[in-house]
Amino acid sequence: MRTQVAIIGAGPSGLLLGQLLHKAGIDAVIIERQTPEYVLGRIRAGVLEQVCIDLLDEAGVGKRMHQEGLVHGGFDLLFKGSRHRIDMNGLTGGKNVMVYGQTEVTRDLMDARQAAGLITHYEALDVSVQDFDSQQPKVRYVKDGKNHEIQCDFIAGCDGFHGVCRSSVPAGSIQEFEKVYPFGWLGVLSDTPPVHHELIYANSQRGFALCSQRSTSRSRYYLQVPLTDTLAQWSDAAFWDELRLRLDPQARDHLVTGPSIEKSIAPLRSFVTEPMRFGSLFLAGDAAHIVPPTGAKGLNLAATDVKYLCSALIEFYQDKTQAGIDNYSQRCLRRIWRAERFSWWFTNLMHKFPENGPIVQKFQEAELDYLVHSESGARTIAENYVGLPLDFGA
Ligand code: APR
Ligand code: PHB
Repeated sequence: MRTQVAIIGAGPSGLLLGQLLHKAGIDAVIIERQTPEYVLGRIRAGVLEQVCIDLLDEAGVGKRMHQEGLVHGGFDLLFKGSRHRIDMNGLTGGKNVMVYGQTEVTRDLMDARQAAGLITHYEALDVSVQDFDSQQPKVRYVKDGKNHEIQCDFIAGCDGFHGVCRSSVPAGSIQEFEKVYPFGWLGVLSDTPPVHHELIYANSQRGFALCSQRSTSRSRYYLQVPLTDTLAQWSDAAFWDELRLRLDPQARDHLVTGPSIEKSIAPLRSFVTEPMRFGSLFLAGDAAHIVPPTGAKGLNLAATDVKYLCSALIEFYQDKTQAGIDNYSQRCLRRIWRAERFSWWFTNLMHKFPENGPIVQKFQEAELDYLVHSESGARTIAENYVGLPLDFGA
């Protein structure tokens, strides 16, 4: 079988790329190791920047997002027991974010792919990428006990952090930068109304907490926990009790609790691969970089990688120029490092690090006090939160 672009991975990166390429008349096939149900079962963040909203619209999958997504023009920072609103909209000249779960984005992309009759090979085993240092790369996989080979012009490695594409690159051609944080996030999803109409990011002496949401009747909450904690240690009651202790009195009174419908512990990591292109193989999304979830940049970065990649491929096929392909890594990495820096900074500001004593808690509170009371401080956080523009000029 032959296609122009073989996409490995049917997460948000692979599906969005598939949709944008289809709109541009470029032929692509997606190869995914899991089932569609498994892909949809993963619960992840749900805050979309304007550039991501625009891309989903461009891909023709924005209808339900605009109907059901919640537009947020601000969020609260809670420290020393008091909440302070960051007026993102006012501080950024009218920019907002959209609260719409990644699961829903994935579902909309899957539905659009199916409606367009585009090919996704799910449950593909032993996927391998071959000859990407040449102009005849190939993807091989096993499905239903049979060997398959796809010949293509390009391979898009959209196969996440544990995928096969990055690990197929010779060690001498790739550099990896990594920081693993000494705690995780325990997340709970519940069909209860959110405690507040906007998000609350809480720095407390007991550790970080986040009050997020998926709709007006579905909440998503997180607690910073030691990496050694297990789900068995966290009954629903224990979760709600600890969350209350990390909130301010008003939020504590408003908190509506109920049974969890999903509960998981996720580690926090900063990770970047340089470069992101190796001959005919491109890495995009979590395959190339991971941010800690503080600030919800993961999906947004994945979407902008895909935008740059799609533009490069369109230029290649339509304008017969290689320029976008040659610039891909550099364009992506500039934006990635800025978001990595913000996510690392925001993580450091909000969490309790085991190695830090009470003086660092005081430093964090003083920095938060400065940020919320200084217009330029608040604007800096607002600008980063709503997302930096796609291009920064020269
Ligand atoms: N072969 C085929 N598919 C694979 C392989 C493989 N060897 N390895 C992994 N995959 C699939 C996974 O099953 C998954 O469906 O690749 C997909 C990668 O999807 P994601 O991990 O969701 O990564 P991405 O699409 O880049 O999405 C980035 O996810 O983790 C969040 O914060 C992140 O929101 C961001 C988004
Ligand atoms: C979420 O809703 O899951 C979420 C929101 C904001 C974050 C991280 C996660 O910073």
